[in-house]
Amino acid sequence: MKTRITELLGIKYPIICGGMFQVGRAELAAAISEAGGLGIITSKTQGTPEGLREEIQKVKALTDKPFGVNLNLFPSMTATPNEEFIQVMIEEDVKIVETSGRSPEPLMPLLKKNDFIVMHKVVGPRYAKTAERLGADAVIIVGNETGGHPGMSDVGTLVVLPRVVDSVSIPVIAGGGFADGRGLVGALALGAEGVLMGTRFMATKEAPIHDNVKEWMLNADETQTIVVQRNIGSPSRVALNEVSEEVDRKEKDGATLEELIPLITGKRSKDVYFEGNLDGGIWSCGQSVGLVDEVLSVQELIDQMVSEAEKATAFIHERVHN
Ligand SMILES: Cc1cc2nc3c(=O)[nH]c(=O)nc-3n(C[C@H](O)[C@H](O)[C@H](O)COP(=O)(O)O)c2cc1C
Repeated sequence: MKTRITELLGIKYPIICGGMFQVGRAELAAAISEAGGLGIITSKTQGTPEGLREEIQKVKALTDKPFGVNLNLFPSMTATPNEEFIQVMIEEDVKIVETSGRSPEPLMPLLKKNDFIVMHKVVGPRYAKTAERLGADAVIIVGNETGGHPGMSDVGTLVVLPRVVDSVSIPVIAGGGFADGRGLVGALALGAEGVLMGTRFMATKEAPIHDNVKEWMLNADETQTIVVQRNIGSPSRVALNEVSEEVDRKEKDGATLEELIPLITGKRSKDVYFEGNLDGGIWSCGQSVGLVDEVLSVQELIDQMVSEAEKATAFIHERVHN
């Protein structure tokens, strides 16, 4: 498989793992890069430049393939030292970043001066055009199905992806709802040059989260997620559980940010991911959870996606030509 994304990133398959707060750590990222995709570690998880350096070194000990770092530009209760993270990346010679949240404009001069490959994650054509104008090398577009932040417009990947493909000339990576090789071929057919997944990579053997979460994912279907935090302008697709349902009820009653914080704080997700308490807090999960029916190793998942993609391509060929 060869696309502008595989060429840009120096990877074998156009399959990328998006940054995942708490989940996107060295062992998962390294396994994805080692299997021919692009693994990404999430700087916000380590929180400090030295923590990020250690995590980068852990990845390097596990693979010599390219990998990237997610820089979180979302408004946050705790300061995010992104300039210092970039400095560590320069020193460690890791030059691929996924930016997400607000516009990457303030960081672009530093990133471009140091020859970073910048992939900025957006939720629609307007933001994709801005990212292109600012010098991003690729955009990642996530539709409403996505785990994490889908944006305010509620447009699904099937529509927003070709809209973005038609709006920019830099390569587009499709996210939100992808979990298998059929999806990969579908994304390529719509003009994307790669897929980015989060939810599907959570249900792999290398994902450093409690088995209870993986087990829940196997049993859940595509209806078992919910978008919360819309009232506070930061919609987030999370797994349906007691806490997310309570947030939803409170938002419908007009709760303020201060009232919601004890429920939505990211700190609570640790109880879910690491203690296996499924009702411990809210945790990001996309609709593609409905497509997860087996916990595979990352290598098995990527190999399976590639063979499914080949089958799907042959199937289309047969349909179109008969
Ligand atoms: C558990 C989890 C945590 C996430 N954390 C982040 C994050 O910290 N930063 C970010 O840009 N995206 C985050 N995302 C979004 C993913 O990077 C990716 O864009 C998304 O999962 C793609 O859609 P999918 O879930 O349908 O595969 C997260 C997603 C999940 C499932």
